Amino acid sequence: MRDLRKFLLFVAAACALSVAGACVSAPEQGAGGGGGAGTGGASKVGPVRIGFSMDTLKEERWQRDKLLVEQRAKEIGAVLDVQVANGDDSVQTKQCDNMLTKGVDVLIVAPHNGEIAASIVEAAHKQNVPVISYDRLIKNSDVDLYVSHQVEKMGEMQGKYALDRVPKGNYILIGGAPTDNNALLLRKGQMNILKPAVDRRDVKVISDQFAKEWKADEALRITEDALTRTGNDIQAVVASNDGTAGGAISALEAAKVNGKVLVTGQDAQLDAVQRIAEGRQTMTIYKPIKPLADSAVDNAIKLARKEPITAPDRVNNGKIDVPSILQEPQAVDKDNLMSTIIKDGYHPMEKVYEKVPREQWPKATASRAASRASARPRPQASPSSFRNSRSSKT
Ligand code: BGC
Repeated sequence: MRDLRKFLLFVAAACALSVAGACVSAPEQGAGGGGGAGTGGASKVGPVRIGFSMDTLKEERWQRDKLLVEQRAKEIGAVLDVQVANGDDSVQTKQCDNMLTKGVDVLIVAPHNGEIAASIVEAAHKQNVPVISYDRLIKNSDVDLYVSHQVEKMGEMQGKYALDRVPKGNYILIGGAPTDNNALLLRKGQMNILKPAVDRRDVKVISDQFAKEWKADEALRITEDALTRTGNDIQAVVASNDGTAGGAISALEAAKVNGKVLVTGQDAQLDAVQRIAEGRQTMTIYKPIKPLADSAVDNAIKLARKEPITAPDRVNNGKIDVPSILQEPQAVDKDNLMSTIIKDGYHPMEKVYEKVPREQWPKATASRAASRASARPRPQASPSSFRNSRSSKT
């Protein structure tokens, strides 16, 4: 009896160690998570090897994603290989092929082009390696899991924010890269809200374009063009992310109409929240990255180990309803900067208000929040931990 208890204790301890080290245990038949691939690596012992294929590090948020995925993988003892394709589809495909050849157990892919990346899923599945679609949906494929934020809802939030404050007027709509499913979902969400106002002719859409590769200079060109065509008669710019908002704001400032024109954004990147604090950008959508990064890594481990995953949402990718985990976004403007981004430690207050004279900083709550933020560990890596928070690449 005592021997049996000892044995059970030993087994329990061994299991705990294996969980802590995210080791691959013997395959559990039929317990597969997303329903797609099994795993080539599940039969061998050792840490799970994750390949993380990223499109870009251009926007600050992607640097945060990389850092937080690295942190989570380290925390749970997985081996991580990160490759960045810098916006090149053939490079992304090759990098994934290489990671598969090296024997990763699972791939996390933030695709540059959601259609082209379907071939990555196919190649991975041939080797029984499951694939997680990260932030952007991989279309027309049997991808195993999609982790992201509620993107269509973000578009609705941008549209609603604008329409509540500018119920009538001339609008510019600036979408993101047309190769990115997120850009299309955002536009869909924006139009869910704006279309009735457009139909009533309360809102006139002066320009409705997509900025190639989410480029700020594309957004600048689109805005300049609309300003010229209307003699600067623009009341709102629904920009799909902070990068494109920045481009639009440069054009508005050159035409000396900034501050009078509502500008939306997305990402809560540092330069954008600084503009919000200064009154140069109206709002952004704040998407905490840590829950996204953690769920990608944690579920990568589960998929590699053929353990069940909990994915409450389904998103159709043209081929299947992909099991999905979608995080909540939040609209942020100057009124709730303190209670969101700063409170969460996403950016430190000193940085957010850096360009605002100190006497104009939010008062009592500000100093409380600043001391709270410095007193406790930050749940989100802040950009001060990035070596280059603004990449020079475009
Ligand atoms: C992401 C945004 C990002 C954009 C440009 C989108 O897919 O969801 O956060 O700003 O790509 O990289």
